[in-house]
Amino acid sequence: MTFVRLNNNIEMPVLGLGTWLTSDKNLKSAINWALEIGYRHIDTATLYDNEKTIGDVLKEWINSGKIQRQELFVTTKLPPAGNYPERMEKYILQSLKDLQLEYVDLYLIHSPEGIKNSPPPNNNTKEVEMDKNVDISALWKKMEEQVLLGRAKSIGISNFNIPQINEVLSNAVIKPACLQTELNVYVQQQNVVNFCKEHDITLIGYCPLGSPGINAFYSEYGITKSIPKLLDDPIVHEIAIKYSKTPAQIALRFLVQQNIAAIPKSSNLNRIKENFQIFDFTLDQNDLQLLKGLDKGESARLGDWESWTWLEEEGTIKSS
Ligand SMILES: NC(=O)c1ccc[n+]([C@@H]2O[C@H](COP(=O)([O-])OP(=O)(O)OC[C@H]3O[C@@H](n4cnc5c(N)ncnc54)[C@H](OP(=O)(O)O)[C@@H]3O)[C@@H](O)[C@H]2O)c1
Repeated sequence: MTFVRLNNNIEMPVLGLGTWLTSDKNLKSAINWALEIGYRHIDTATLYDNEKTIGDVLKEWINSGKIQRQELFVTTKLPPAGNYPERMEKYILQSLKDLQLEYVDLYLIHSPEGIKNSPPPNNNTKEVEMDKNVDISALWKKMEEQVLLGRAKSIGISNFNIPQINEVLSNAVIKPACLQTELNVYVQQQNVVNFCKEHDITLIGYCPLGSPGINAFYSEYGITKSIPKLLDDPIVHEIAIKYSKTPAQIALRFLVQQNIAAIPKSSNLNRIKENFQIFDFTLDQNDLQLLKGLDKGESARLGDWESWTWLEEEGTIKSS
């Protein structure tokens, strides 16, 4: 495993296990397999509704002495309904209780937008009131407090754009350690990557494989969106053949080789293994440039949190 050093000197494993959209039964075995294989970085969120299951597995590992707490790097996220200073405490304390941990390694603001009608979303109507005017500076002060209280070792943001990151930086005493955002061969967000590198904010790429399972999630909302299939890209395939690797391994290596952490989700033993086997080869400059040339920009982006238009179109979100 390779680590990236955050701006507070803490080391984070560059590869983690994503856990969004993993059912309880599969999640238990996925976390167990991942820990056996050597993963030490787990990504979750209040919104994923799976912290209790993850906590149960971590507790078994820690209590049996197979792992020390300090070897693990656990990330969770404040949901949009918690994007108000007076609401944050309730959410982080609940996450710690469910994860059965005294602290998380990284606590992220999941999205710059808030949801006013807490708790979200109302299951009966699926309608939530979205707030695009969150007081980011005040929220960040509350995040800093979580570090001082020992509940989070590092704090960061997710789905923030450059002006929103600047708003955090303008009043920060503790700089954000990380930005978690959608990053893969098709969605490279080079301006955001450069900005973060300039400001010593480590990037964590979500949907590093282009989220091939997203269609099932969209169809729950009746959304038909055409998602380009990164793992079927002919150039990615050619490069995979050259290195005797799979397209997924090439996609993950592309990120970690640029010091960008990747958190692929899988609940399949073989794919969890496959995704971990990316530390025994290096993409040469030529192949790196070929992959850089595959950027499709915003059009390939799955997680459009900035506008949430796909939910608004469905009438599930009311903008305020
Ligand atoms: N901060 C945010 O707003 C945000 C948003 C989205 C995601 N995330 C985090 O990022 C993680 C990753 O994103 P994601 O889950 O959307 O997308 P992803 O990791 O790019 O893709 C996951 C999908 O790829 C499949 N897969 C995994 N390994 C594979 C391989 N080697 N070959 C082929 N298919 C493979 C998985 O299926 P199997 O399980 O069947 O293998 C699953 O359907 C999430 O789980 C979550 O923790 C954060």
